[in-house]
Amino acid sequence: IFSLPKENGWVASYLYKYQGFWHPVRHLQGIITCQRHFRAQDSDVILITTPKSGTTWLKAIVFTLMNRTKYSIAQDHPLLSKNPHDLVPFLEQTLYVDNQIPDLSSMNSPRLFATHIPFTSIPKSVQDSRCKLVYLCRNPKDTFVSMWQFSNKLRPKEMGSHSLGEAFDMFCRGVSIAGPFLDHVLDYWKESRESPHKVLFLKYDDMKENPTVNLRRIAEFLECPFSNEEEESGMVEEILKLCSFGNLSNLEINRTGKLSSGEENKVFFRQGKVGDWKNHLTIEMVEKLDQITEQKLCGSGLVL
Ligand code: A3P
Repeated sequence: IFSLPKENGWVASYLYKYQGFWHPVRHLQGIITCQRHFRAQDSDVILITTPKSGTTWLKAIVFTLMNRTKYSIAQDHPLLSKNPHDLVPFLEQTLYVDNQIPDLSSMNSPRLFATHIPFTSIPKSVQDSRCKLVYLCRNPKDTFVSMWQFSNKLRPKEMGSHSLGEAFDMFCRGVSIAGPFLDHVLDYWKESRESPHKVLFLKYDDMKENPTVNLRRIAEFLECPFSNEEEESGMVEEILKLCSFGNLSNLEINRTGKLSSGEENKVFFRQGKVGDWKNHLTIEMVEKLDQITEQKLCGSGLVL
């Protein structure tokens, strides 16, 4: 059982398995509606993550990158007054939620969306069109710790907190939102190897270590590389500074504001670091998750 946002509060939600992956019923309805009705355009960009892999950060970065000629980074930028989740909607959690079929006709191209939908469930038009997918994953240990902390923060009090051991056991069995986590990552990894023009595969840990290189990779993949003038003016660094954890988490809008759907913006910012798992997981847990990860990724060429 997980908790989910609902009308300014949080409700308990069971997870259901659909096409091999676990989803809360609200997301599941959204996925099915999206599979039936979403029509991807060739110019669309879709950001794909598993929960707690850095979605908020990726949304901020790609939104700023794609709109860099439209908005001044120095002043009046939309990120100064809106949380990234209000600027880049989730397909299954925002647009196609509650059996709605949204009218997307007023969205300017290139449209930017986000999703946690696993590759096997992605709408057919996404695969058939020339739209681009930017996938961001994170090492399993930090993803798990971030997810556990997040779900406990949001769990209705009457449910009590989810113990670390219980949550860990579920995660290792593949039971988490949009899980099994490793299958989600591996499917997009394989797709990125087969279709490198379609899927860009990124790691949160690499982005933290070398943000400039990765931002340039994203820009090139999206066919909007930085010009010499932009490089010389320091635009790469400016975008990263605007979207950094320190900057975004300290903005008034993210300290005290709420999303249009009612969630508090501050819940999307905790530490924004690599390696917090060392403060929470036991040696046995680390060994177990490392072993599961190695077995799953063996021969794939992917190391997490
Ligand atoms: P931690 O809980 O480890 O701090 P998501 O956006 O997919 O929900 O992921 C949330 C995780 O990304 C949280 O990790 C959060 O603190 C971190 N995060 C949020 N904004 C970030 C940013 N601008 N830069 C780096 N990490 C960020």
